[in-house]
Amino acid sequence: MNPEFSSTERPLDAWAQNAALSRMADAIQPGLSELLEGGDGWRRPLKDFLHGSFLGHPLHPLLTDIPIGAWTVAAACDAMDLIGIRRYREAAGVAIGIGALGAVGAAITGLADWSDTKDEPQRVGMLHAILNTASLTSYVTSLIARRSGARRFGIAAAFAGYGLMSLAAYLGGELSLGMQLGVKHTAVPVDPPKDFSRVLDESALGNGVMQKAEVDTIPLLVTRFGTQTHAVTGVCTHRGAPLAEGTQDGLCVRCPWHGSRFSLEDGRVIEGPATFALASFKTIVAEGSVSVRAL
Ligand code: FES
Repeated sequence: MNPEFSSTERPLDAWAQNAALSRMADAIQPGLSELLEGGDGWRRPLKDFLHGSFLGHPLHPLLTDIPIGAWTVAAACDAMDLIGIRRYREAAGVAIGIGALGAVGAAITGLADWSDTKDEPQRVGMLHAILNTASLTSYVTSLIARRSGARRFGIAAAFAGYGLMSLAAYLGGELSLGMQLGVKHTAVPVDPPKDFSRVLDESALGNGVMQKAEVDTIPLLVTRFGTQTHAVTGVCTHRGAPLAEGTQDGLCVRCPWHGSRFSLEDGRVIEGPATFALASFKTIVAEGSVSVRAL
């Protein structure tokens, strides 16, 4: 089962339940998944790149800063133009162009992140994409108007785009902070145990057997491969799947929900969509017990 996230009553709830958004998303997602994951072997690495797995951090929020920053500069330049300070006119156009390029990058990475969402995150993500598309369209219209001499109309279109972008940014915040898309879904060992703590009987481990355990309330996944015993946090950083229900693939574990692969040796992401690594622990096997501590 892959439970998605629900929320308590919020002003957004009507949109989060909107059936039309659901229908639009359901029409788009299968083709998008096929485009990003289907067929030959190069698509999955590309999708991982778009998620930001190579960075150890989601890529989308980094790119969204470009249009937000550039279009804020453009709004300030246009505001000065409106009160008679004309020297920043050209700067406004340049800032809009830079923001538009950043918005295209943000859209592509955002689509990759959204492609496997369901329920509320799927619908709110759809609305987020619609507003961002409308915002980008307004800015492109603004640039065309400025080039053709309709400066006032161009400024009005840019301000409309800024309003749409602000609404979309609010929804982006809801998606990440409220619905937990893109955040690290694992118990973060804030104060990991510095001394060895017993977590398991050695007899529970066999080659290729993945065992759940816990240390200081942190869920763990403990495995043995050959003569080595490994312990990493037991919850997938992507959306919180229990990794013990996944499959062991040599020295890696594959998540049961969306297929991320993590190294059992050090927790690093081998394959996305996860971007954050698992925490790994030092293990010792003595007197029939497996004990772990922070590295
Ligand atoms: S929960 Fe999505 S890859 Fe693990």
